[in-house]
Amino acid sequence: MPLTNILENVSLKPYNTFGVVAKTRYFATIKTINDLYTIVKLNQKTANSPYQPIMILGGGSNLLFAKNYQGLIIHNALKGMAKVKDATDYVLVKAYGGEIWNDLVQFCIHNNWSGIENLSLIPGCVGAAPIQNIGAYGVELKDVFYALEAMHLATGKLRTFYHNDCQFAYRESIFKKELKGQYCILSVTLQLPKKAKLKTNYGAIKQTIAQEGIKKPNIADIGRIVSAIRTQKLPNPKVLGNSGSFFKNPIISQKAFTQLQTQYPSLNIPNYPLSKKEIKIPAAWLIEQCGWKGKRVGDTGTYKNHALVLVNHGKASGKAIQQLSKDIQASVWQKFNIALQTEVTIL
Ligand code: EPU
Repeated sequence: MPLTNILENVSLKPYNTFGVVAKTRYFATIKTINDLYTIVKLNQKTANSPYQPIMILGGGSNLLFAKNYQGLIIHNALKGMAKVKDATDYVLVKAYGGEIWNDLVQFCIHNNWSGIENLSLIPGCVGAAPIQNIGAYGVELKDVFYALEAMHLATGKLRTFYHNDCQFAYRESIFKKELKGQYCILSVTLQLPKKAKLKTNYGAIKQTIAQEGIKKPNIADIGRIVSAIRTQKLPNPKVLGNSGSFFKNPIISQKAFTQLQTQYPSLNIPNYPLSKKEIKIPAAWLIEQCGWKGKRVGDTGTYKNHALVLVNHGKASGKAIQQLSKDIQASVWQKFNIALQTEVTIL
């Protein structure tokens, strides 16, 4: 890639679904693995290279720019998806990092490969999916993940990560922890069973199946139902800037939960036991109880139909949205003694 393909002082507004105004010092789009390799080698050769630190940007749907970026942002535009193995009871499907996640979902549904239909309409691109182990409606990426290929940004070395290497957990992986910022995910390979095992337990899915009188739902039915649920509950970032769930659902101890029940006997606290000792509480409920649902502060706010989604009503700055998130965290801490952690990456 010639140096001229690295642009200077580029607006990030089109590259973040919050639609906030921010700039990056340098910006490049990679369409081939070699494009990325060229940049990595350039950085290696040049003492005090200005093209550092490098940040990889996919769909920009899980981040908030609270200030300008001082290094090089690389937009992953690696494309392609295909079946790479056809075994007796499963297929392996490989997709490059710059593909839109929902396009991969539709590709799989179209071919009748099950496993990711519950992850329909999640914004973002394929390369970002393993980083936070995306999940929705009873399915997480880790349930179908086989392997990924990544390039080490400091050396240009390629590495394959298998399931165990990724340390997947709820909205977590090694790429958010000790390997944070160190790799660019080039491709992801999924293992999808040939015999569909549909997950229809999630309340809203079950309800819709019953309402529509579907006797034996198929993969496409689930994909369509999940898309409809999401469209109804979550704002379209093209219309109202947002980054999906802003916080993770907190996991608290049984003891802390019992204390909360004693403190608020009249509240029916929604809860999902994970084990005998740990309980997940919906962050949206906590935020709503603190009076934040649908509230607007300047051009920032929370979505009227879902308290966990912070929104940009038009001209909000990243800083202002960050401030709102801090105010929400403070309220929830004060009322419930629970520390909400952000799911979105703040830069
Ligand atoms: N609730 C409220 N007020 C609200 C919304 C929800 O009290 O305004 C309560 C209700 O009790 C509801 C519960 O929160 O039953 C859970 O709400 P929901 O089913 O919408 O799920 P969530 O826990 O808020 C998670 C994921 C979503 C994913 C949905 C569906 C996280 C942080 N978020 O949200 O993922 O789509 O489940 O499975 O785990 C994302 O990560 O960006 C995202 C949208």
